[in-house]
Amino acid sequence: MRVRDMSDLVDDRPQDGVFRLHRDVFTDPELFELEQQFIFERCWSFLGIESQIPEKHDFVTTDIGRTPVLLTRDGDGKVAAFLNACRHKGALVCAVEQGNAKTHVCPYHGWAYASSGRNIAIKDHEAGAYLPAFEAEDHDLVSLPRLATYKGLIFGSLASDVPPLEDFLGDMRFFLDLAMEQGPHGMEFVPGRTTYTYRANWKLQLDNGVDGYHLTSTHQSFMQVQGRRRGGEGNLDARQFDWAKRKAQQGGMYGFPHGHSVIWFDQPELEKRPLYPSIGEVRERLGELRADWMLKLRNLSIFPAMQIAEGITLMLRTFRPLAVDRTEMRSYCLAPIGEAPDRRAWRLRQYEDFFNPGGLATPDDTIVYEDCQRGLASHGLPWLQGYSRGMGTLRQGADETAQRLGISPAESGRGSYEGQAETPFHAPYREWARLMQAGMAGRSAWS
Ligand code: FES
Ligand SMILES: [Fe+2]
Repeated sequence: MRVRDMSDLVDDRPQDGVFRLHRDVFTDPELFELEQQFIFERCWSFLGIESQIPEKHDFVTTDIGRTPVLLTRDGDGKVAAFLNACRHKGALVCAVEQGNAKTHVCPYHGWAYASSGRNIAIKDHEAGAYLPAFEAEDHDLVSLPRLATYKGLIFGSLASDVPPLEDFLGDMRFFLDLAMEQGPHGMEFVPGRTTYTYRANWKLQLDNGVDGYHLTSTHQSFMQVQGRRRGGEGNLDARQFDWAKRKAQQGGMYGFPHGHSVIWFDQPELEKRPLYPSIGEVRERLGELRADWMLKLRNLSIFPAMQIAEGITLMLRTFRPLAVDRTEMRSYCLAPIGEAPDRRAWRLRQYEDFFNPGGLATPDDTIVYEDCQRGLASHGLPWLQGYSRGMGTLRQGADETAQRLGISPAESGRGSYEGQAETPFHAPYREWARLMQAGMAGRSAWS
């Protein structure tokens, strides 16, 4: 391994007003390998939400970086997570995304595991002439070293020394609450999900999830289609937003320890949000402040690879690096459990309009990521300038709004909708550099 100084990759000099990234961050296959080890295998990662596995023996499969994971609810109703890898020769024990199964039988040689992960059958065990050393071994699925839930969001870690989940999330919890407390009976993914891959580095999505600056250029055609629909043409079901009305809005950003960040804006046209008709119930249940903040535009990035966006409609996405220039995306429409069918339809029309890979906005994002990856092959372009916008509004710690919310971000920024800061990218890359540096130095990042 070539030990690299992180300041050669993340030029983070707040005292000089500089924050730049080196193109290698997106293109170097050696760094990609190290990210797997030092970031994905050493952080908390989002695995799923509790309402995906409401019944005993329900399961979903997912991944932490390159490690396949099986998330189950066992026969006692307890949530558990395992490496989705057979103890025999490592085959995926469960190859489907979601379902209900008391047992998972490995397709290769037929070893079987209970939903609790316990090995319940080694095929033709008696005839196997196994010696006592084999019999003495543990044959159960390997549990994830850490598993924890926050407001229905299930996270796991492949490292045993990560801090408690609530500490890792820190005050991002306030913004997670705003997503996960919208329904009086909790939240669920609308059945189905969207998955696709793009030919570019995973961090293009990491950035884009809190990048408001690209909207008025990348999504021009989406905005124009919406404008024509508002004029009465075509599909009218998705309650078209008038983007021009957002221009006058004010908002800001917060960066948090451990790489999380959020952008927020006041939002006009509240009546176009599917939550709006039930906001009275929310206000009664959670109070004025939270109800008001649920109607603001908020995009959250939970390091390393989970984001929740609510600029259009509420969506949750994860992304998984497959190679330095290839990434798998999964996105879900998040909705209150028990929502009335007409609002569910309204929400879905907005979701598919923007977020589906065949929708009107996401394909444009995907193409620009791929274009970035092509352009980033240029050795003549060492340092990128896309991390500076909004730095003039930054202040350390909590601004007045954060103080009113009772949260303590590491840094705060303010601005108009057109200001669209790039400062939300700083927290993730500071954490990226911290974890990579610790890993290369052979240290734990958490002690
Ligand atoms: S790999 Fe699973 S039984 Fe052989
Ligand atoms: Fe976009």
